[in-house]
Amino acid sequence: MNLSGSARATAAAVVAGATLLATGSIAGAAPAHPVAAAAPDIPVAGVKAHLAQFQSIATANGGNRAHGRAGYKASLDYVKAKLDAAGFTTTVQQFTSSGRTGYNLVADWPGGDTSQVLMAGSHLDSVTAGPGVNDNGSGSAAVLETALAVARAGYHPAKHLRFAWWGAEELGMVGSRYYVGRLSSADRARITGYLNFDMIGSPNPGYFVYDDDPAIEKTFKDYYAGLGIATEPETEGDGRSDHAPFKNAGVPVGGLFSGADYVKTQAQAAKWGGTAGQAFDRCYHSSCDTTANIDDTALDHNSDALAYAVWALSS
Ligand code: TRP
Ligand code: CA
Ligand code: ZN
Repeated sequence: MNLSGSARATAAAVVAGATLLATGSIAGAAPAHPVAAAAPDIPVAGVKAHLAQFQSIATANGGNRAHGRAGYKASLDYVKAKLDAAGFTTTVQQFTSSGRTGYNLVADWPGGDTSQVLMAGSHLDSVTAGPGVNDNGSGSAAVLETALAVARAGYHPAKHLRFAWWGAEELGMVGSRYYVGRLSSADRARITGYLNFDMIGSPNPGYFVYDDDPAIEKTFKDYYAGLGIATEPETEGDGRSDHAPFKNAGVPVGGLFSGADYVKTQAQAAKWGGTAGQAFDRCYHSSCDTTANIDDTALDHNSDALAYAVWALSS
């Protein structure tokens, strides 16, 4: 690299802000490589506005957003309306589990090379015990806000982007297994990566990156390194969320997780703050998983990391 002092300072700031710019464009010369578009800073207020809606939906529908309950369908209708208004092509996929109808929502962003599809998704159902704001309103809201950011930016990635909200994860990843099981082998082979977000705003947060596809894992780790935040590999969740059916079908997977019912250690509290000897989410699968059960800073960083990875892995 051959940058002037001020250009070097700018480049450092850009790295800290975790955008992707060819250095040539900073110096004003022709870039040596195609310039990747910068990932936006996802407004955490936008993510939280979706969480408030999920909370209201649960409150109005018996206190939950569980599979087969009115609060699930209302959650799906809310997300779908936002995506339709933003120009996505949405598809609702229906299935049956435990005698009740379930739904996946898939949103395609028109354009890009459809032989190379990057997917990001999260489960939209809660357990019946509560409103499921952290599990998994947090992932659902962050994926939604990232999709809306794609539309706001008029982003035209090289790859085709597809976002998904899964039903009945809490019954054993029923929706995502149904989706993957119904893909033709050709369509499955077109998916270059699946990014999963299940619990990313835990109130006593950790920063866990799925220890799976190395390129996806590195993308997330690079983002946190730029923020100066330590991460740990997430290995516990291998079979515990919607990335599992994709992984089993041979799709490269990755994702983020801020912790569930496991207890934060002293060492973890030393690097991440919060409370040692307490669960990452004391309200996991409980009635207290409300809008009060969210750490805004973790939600913000993880939402920004999600967008960073979507941009970086699709350009
Ligand atoms: N999928 C679990 C749920 O919804 C949450 C969970 C626990 C998890 N451990 C995990 C998700 C590890 C991802 C990785 O209840
Ligand atoms: Ca942000
Ligand atoms: Zn759960």
